[in-house]
Amino acid sequence: MRLALTFILAVLLSRSVEGRPLFRNEKKAFNKLLVISFDGFRWNYDQDVETPNMDKLVKEGVKAKYITPPMITMTSPSHFTTITGRWPEDHGVVHNMMFNSTTLSKLSHKTTQNRSEWWDNGVMPLWITAQEQGLKTASFHYPGGGANYSGQSVNRSLVESYDHPDSNVTEWRENIDIVMGWFAKEDFDFVTLYYGEPDKVGHRKGPETPDRKEVIKQIDTTIGYLLEAIDRHGLTQRLNVIITSDHGMTTVKKKPEVDEIKLSNFMPYIKLVYFDLLDYGGFGMIKPRKGKEQQVYDALVNAHPNLTVYKKEEIPESFHIAKNSRIQPIVLMADLGYNLNSQVIFYVNKGDHGFHNGEMDMKTIFRAFGPDFKKNYLAEPFDSVNIYPLMCKVLGVTPAPNNGSLSFTEGMLVDTNIESGANGSRHHVSSNLVAAMIFYLFLQM
Ligand SMILES: *[C@@H]1O[C@H](CO)[C@@H](O)[C@H](O)[C@H]1NC(C)=O
Ligand SMILES: *[C@@H]1O[C@H](CO)[C@@H](O)[C@H](O)[C@H]1NC(C)=O
Ligand SMILES: *[C@@H]1O[C@H](CO)[C@@H](O)[C@H](O)[C@H]1NC(C)=O
Ligand SMILES: *[C@@H]1O[C@H](CO)[C@@H](O)[C@H](O)[C@H]1NC(C)=O
Ligand SMILES: *[C@@H]1O[C@H](CO)[C@@H](O)[C@H](O)[C@H]1NC(C)=O
Ligand SMILES: *[C@@H]1O[C@H](CO)[C@@H](O)[C@H](O)[C@H]1NC(C)=O
Ligand SMILES: *[C@@H]1O[C@H](CO)[C@@H](O)[C@H](O)[C@H]1NC(C)=O
Ligand SMILES: *[C@@H]1O[C@H](CO)[C@@H](O)[C@H](O)[C@H]1NC(C)=O
Ligand SMILES: [Zn+2]
Repeated sequence: MRLALTFILAVLLSRSVEGRPLFRNEKKAFNKLLVISFDGFRWNYDQDVETPNMDKLVKEGVKAKYITPPMITMTSPSHFTTITGRWPEDHGVVHNMMFNSTTLSKLSHKTTQNRSEWWDNGVMPLWITAQEQGLKTASFHYPGGGANYSGQSVNRSLVESYDHPDSNVTEWRENIDIVMGWFAKEDFDFVTLYYGEPDKVGHRKGPETPDRKEVIKQIDTTIGYLLEAIDRHGLTQRLNVIITSDHGMTTVKKKPEVDEIKLSNFMPYIKLVYFDLLDYGGFGMIKPRKGKEQQVYDALVNAHPNLTVYKKEEIPESFHIAKNSRIQPIVLMADLGYNLNSQVIFYVNKGDHGFHNGEMDMKTIFRAFGPDFKKNYLAEPFDSVNIYPLMCKVLGVTPAPNNGSLSFTEGMLVDTNIESGANGSRHHVSSNLVAAMIFYLFLQM
């Protein structure tokens, strides 16, 4: 009888339930994870500026040559692909703006952050999946972190205020200290931290400017501060860090260099268009007035050599956007650097994104370091959708259904058996040890 009981106990201890350890305190077998996103950090921004701290990270961790964001290379769609591992057609966040093409309402990127109905489309972001498996998570300004998902909120979430200064380096450091406190004093397992630079300077001044280089230097100094803060909080052996971004940036082409794309030049705009989402870089959507779809298409399809027009049903499957009901009947893409303008050209942005994700200027960064990552490891380029299974693996979370694959990233890990599975894992090993000890004690009885 006793033997049977012990056997059952041993078996139970060596198993995990749905990939999570059976006992909560076993999660300690997994290290913590911090994901930092610097918005609009183009893949090669570190190559024409002195970045001693990022260079140091190349030696002490993992660097991917670059990564490819999903199509629609915009902030909310891309960040949400990273945190869900799903293509935009599945997660439904298909633009920075929240819109309703019936009521014609449009809400700004910042306003959407508190609007669960824009984010909560049946796909669970990692915060929620991790929380359901017993982890404690937080979002610091990360897109989507302020929404509720099936009624659940992220355990701690700070949403960017309307007047948040994107470029205050002192505040950048304070935010790092706040997050370090969450890990060290409050035992958070997973935190996402977002910064609005270098996107802002890329838009305002252009990517090929001294201003952008200056911001990259500031970011590098901030990364140096991060390394020091991790050490100061005693987290070096317990915290993995991924540094990434959502898209790149390219210089906007203007007259007289090019013939700009203004759609009202090609058709009677108001007469044909019921709703549009344009004037935001290289991607746009149009809902024609009733019965005018073919007319809009015909007017635009050969209108400008640097404009590509798709009927919704013709959008290449490889874009992974077409299946979503929020995608409008006509989708427009401009060649690199050509902004899509509706009726007026706004001369605000010197740099922009939203262009095809195959363009090198849209590619972005991936860095990782910490106890579970190899040192001095250069990874081949991969799609950002594959970050999700990697995050799950290092956290010991059973992933929700997703479009990523670990095969692109597992080579970065020191020990590919850190997660539970059929094969040995860290907590399996420890559980087996416990089981062996119990058995040993039993034999002593
Ligand atoms: C747009 O708003 C209308 C009216 O409020 C509503 O019935 C409809 O469901 C909304 N559409 C979407 C896609 O949210
Ligand atoms: C989001 O909601 C919080 C809490 O209600 C509020 O303080 C904040 O101003 C809101 N932010 C935005 C951008 O709407
Ligand atoms: C999330 O749910 C909580 C509790 O129901 C509610 O107080 C809060 O306003 C919701 N937040 C959003 C952004 O919908
Ligand atoms: C975190 O949120 C989950 C719901 O997703 C909840 O069950 C859990 O109690 C929360 N944990 C903490 C420490 O607040
Ligand atoms: C920058 O942030 C710090 C810390 O939050 C604050 O004390 C300071 O006033 C800010 N500087 C500016 C120029 O806003
Ligand atoms: C714009 O179109 C012209 C004519 O097809 C082409 O030669 C040029 O490469 C295009 N520009 C970009 C940035 O693709
Ligand atoms: C993405 O993943 C979801 C969930 O597994 C799946 O339903 C969908 O078909 C996948 N998309 C593609 C293009 O494979
Ligand atoms: C377990 O690991 C061994 C050796 O590394 C490998 O050959 C085997 O395929 C793995 N089995 C599973 C189910 O992953
Ligand atoms: Zn962005």
